[in-house]
Amino acid sequence: MGYACSSLQHRDMGTRNNKLKKKSCIEQKPSDVVSRHLISLRDLSKSFNNSDKIDILKGINFDIDAGQTLAIVGASGIGKSTLLHIIGTLDRPDSGTVLFQGEDVFAFNEEKLARFRNETVGFVFQFHHLLPEFSALENAMMPALIQGQTREAAREAAEQILIRVGLKERLFHRVGELSGGEQQRVALARALLLKPPLLLADEPTGNLDKKNSEQVHELLLELNRELCMTLVVVTHNMKLAEMMSRSVTILDGKLVEI
Ligand SMILES: Nc1ncnc2c1ncn2[C@@H]1O[C@H](COP(=O)(O)OP(=O)(O)OP(=O)(O)O)[C@@H](O)[C@H]1O
Ligand SMILES: [Mg+2]
Repeated sequence: MGYACSSLQHRDMGTRNNKLKKKSCIEQKPSDVVSRHLISLRDLSKSFNNSDKIDILKGINFDIDAGQTLAIVGASGIGKSTLLHIIGTLDRPDSGTVLFQGEDVFAFNEEKLARFRNETVGFVFQFHHLLPEFSALENAMMPALIQGQTREAAREAAEQILIRVGLKERLFHRVGELSGGEQQRVALARALLLKPPLLLADEPTGNLDKKNSEQVHELLLELNRELCMTLVVVTHNMKLAEMMSRSVTILDGKLVEI
């Protein structure tokens, strides 16, 4: 099909006034390629009962196409992580559905849901949930071992991706002995190991310095362009948000494009 992966475009993004943005992989495709929604959120609602009942998501309807890059931004406590966890099937909505390529994921049985998470969704958590007693390599290998790959294949893939996130010198370090930023990169490597079609990342560069943040941002966008990996990233980093093809926030429980 021959489209330039690194080409740039000007887009009118309303309040963002024609910022120079990189095309996500889907936007570079010729117009005769019909894209379908990868994820559709339908009437999604979620409340929490603390001392008072708080309605966090109030009937969200939203579609994300394969290969798009979406930033979810906004103030602390508005429900960004809650929404990401529901999209990744780590939490259930009170009502509404999450469709993945038209299939209702919460209708899957436990086994199918676990396989869906393992093979389809890479998750970088706000708090990374690594195993501190295990090495960076062992942590990054985990999704491949769960999938049933041999130790050797898992190890090779994990090595490659850890090198790609700049951890060549830290492969055998116990994660508990790594810095916060290094741990975050191990978490990213683990999420990317199986090259999932969907990567959900909650503040993936929140603990990183400027240089490492920029490297991770570039890596995410490269993977989007190379593999057409769909990215949904919660971030307070407006630079990263501006590099994505769409940005949304949560306003009164609804997703609003900005
Ligand atoms: N498991 C839970 N039980 C009770 N309340 C919760 C739970 N998870 C989230 N909340 C509440 O829901 C609201 C939204 O939380 P959420 O973590 O989604 O916010 P956020 O937008 O990701 O914030 P931040 O930017 O600080 O990470 C918060 O007020 C939080 O206290
Ligand atoms: Mg959060």
